[in-house]
Amino acid sequence: MARTNLSGKVLPPSRLAHVVLRTPESKPMLEFYKIFLGARVVAGNDSISFLTYDDEHHRIAIMEVPDCGDKNRMTAGLDHISFTFETLDDLLVAYQQRKAHGIVPIWCVNHGPTTSMYYQDPDGNVLETQVDNLSTVEESMEYMASPEFAENPIGIDFDPEDLIKRLESGEPEKELKKRPNIGPRDFGKIPLLNLPIPAREKSGIVKNGA
Ligand SMILES: [Fe+2]
Repeated sequence: MARTNLSGKVLPPSRLAHVVLRTPESKPMLEFYKIFLGARVVAGNDSISFLTYDDEHHRIAIMEVPDCGDKNRMTAGLDHISFTFETLDDLLVAYQQRKAHGIVPIWCVNHGPTTSMYYQDPDGNVLETQVDNLSTVEESMEYMASPEFAENPIGIDFDPEDLIKRLESGEPEKELKKRPNIGPRDFGKIPLLNLPIPAREKSGIVKNGA
């Protein structure tokens, strides 16, 4: 273990491990996340449950705190959690599968570096599913440093059904992921900033956007 430079730049962690969500009602949250991420519960009790969907022992934990208040969007803190898919096709397949369960996005936007679909969970936590639009991290960083991205870091909205039709008709993913340049966009009007907290439903599945 290299301990020669203990006053230098701090050693960064190897990866982001997990997110723990506090909720007044864990059952609908668990049902939602199992469907949303194709996840499974690996451990837990009445107070906390641990879910995974990949090679990590847990990626999400749901902690029930019955007395905690509902989410308030007008506080500082986490805005959303983002999950990456390998291909546009995978992103859209997962979209269609969620839709079959009544879970639909609240906002679909091509940011430029990513094609992104936003959802909210039963408590109103915002989740992004995305695919990288460019082939390498270097290309993405170059794009993010461009005047075009500085002018409009939000992107342009898209219709996922239209994207599916175009993909099925044989248009290459690379073309479908290209962001048209629309000039500046008003940050204050993006849907994430004006989103109501969802009403709870008995099924535990929130009909986002319904
Ligand atoms: Fe994001």
